[in-house]
Amino acid sequence: MNIAQVDYDGLIPNNVALGQDERVKRALEKWHPGYINWWNDMGPEGFQESLVYLRTAVSVDPKGWAKFDYVRMPDYRWGVLLAPALEGRKIPFGRHKGEDAWQEVPGEYRAMLRRLIVIQGDTEPASVEQQRYLGKTAPSLYDMRNLFQVNVEEGRHLWAMVYLLQKYFGTDGREEAEALLQRRSGDADTPRMLGAFNEQTPDWLSFFMFTFFTDRDGKMQLEALAQSGFDPLSRTCRFMLTEEAHHMFVGETGVTRIIQRTCEAMKDAGINDPNEIEKVRKLGVIDLSTIQKKANLHFSLTLDLFGNEISTNAANAFHAGIKGRYREDRLKDDHQLEGGTYPVLRLIDGRIQHEDSPALSALNMRLRDDYVGDCNNGVGRWNKVIADLGIPFEMKLPHVAFHRHIGEFSKIRADVTGNRLSDADWAGRRDEFLPSDEDRDFIESLMQPQLEPGKFAGWIAPPKVGIDNKPGEFEYVKIA
Ligand SMILES: [Fe+2]
Ligand SMILES: [Fe+2]
Repeated sequence: MNIAQVDYDGLIPNNVALGQDERVKRALEKWHPGYINWWNDMGPEGFQESLVYLRTAVSVDPKGWAKFDYVRMPDYRWGVLLAPALEGRKIPFGRHKGEDAWQEVPGEYRAMLRRLIVIQGDTEPASVEQQRYLGKTAPSLYDMRNLFQVNVEEGRHLWAMVYLLQKYFGTDGREEAEALLQRRSGDADTPRMLGAFNEQTPDWLSFFMFTFFTDRDGKMQLEALAQSGFDPLSRTCRFMLTEEAHHMFVGETGVTRIIQRTCEAMKDAGINDPNEIEKVRKLGVIDLSTIQKKANLHFSLTLDLFGNEISTNAANAFHAGIKGRYREDRLKDDHQLEGGTYPVLRLIDGRIQHEDSPALSALNMRLRDDYVGDCNNGVGRWNKVIADLGIPFEMKLPHVAFHRHIGEFSKIRADVTGNRLSDADWAGRRDEFLPSDEDRDFIESLMQPQLEPGKFAGWIAPPKVGIDNKPGEFEYVKIA
């Protein structure tokens, strides 16, 4: 059997020979109805009967793995897909560096691994829950289809983590798999595990910012876990990353198209000053400073997902060979980090400054720095669109001390450039930095669905090309 091919014969599509693994097959089949119930309750509201032009993985070969077709979302073939094993793979970092990669969970790291898998797994259904009402205000069928593609793939990512729990963690793995279906984003009693996954995604600008910033955190975490010495986790994450690339695309192009439309409308109306907010809003587009405020919000909420700058958990996971650095395999050092240091931005004597810290303790900080660099590349591409249309405005990521709830800067108030503010100044100036109620109301007023094939809401430009090379008029969702 070609390991790259996915077997679609049974209830659960897979390329892990589930047919020869009765115990895990039964456990997953038992979990399946609860998953479908969760999807029907918490998945895209109002569109479960619609036919959506979705891609499904037919192979895990990075080239050409997807098949496109119309699918009712509850009938989507969610399955267990791992990237092919690399022959003779060694543990690439930490104290076990150079030993054969683990095919079973090493007993001493069992609890640590389970925790990492559960935390990753919890984010996947959470984002589906956060985005469940957005279909009703889709700016086009193209965008609606992209939303639903992201949603079904986040559902599949849950399957990916649940497979690991069911196969490798026995009874407590099964209990964790159940609990992943019980928690709910934003619920007061049983919230999702991480803060950013309990926030609302009330409008499409939020959705695109979320896929730009928060899915990008997902990418960083998956990159770090793809390096794991626990080979099944590494292979799972490697395939998830191929799906995640589309989520990044949706976020980046979504924001780009909003910015483009705003700048075009300003040009057409002869408005060159981005501070003419009321005039710009009268054109039915989102002014650039409000887009900037949404970016400030989503960036700062996402930075909290990286945890404390100095972290013993992160050091332990690296030392154990469980979670590596971003693209560990491309880094040129000893991959053990026992002697090195890393500059960490800290609050020292009330001032924000760098301090050299042991490299092992600073791994969260390092991953966050890599993340900020990756975000900045995307922001640069937004700015190119603004510059090309001749509007004097530059989007910027806020300072990492701005609006934080976790880590060094959670105890202070800072503006977007990192200047400390008193509580009173913060209260007075908050709406300069973050979306105000009025901003939210304005954005909400634009969220009218545009469901005619080939048409787009007035506040967003059409994409350059269609999905699967479909022409502009293509009916990406047949609404039932
Ligand atoms: Fe995901
Ligand atoms: Fe994602």
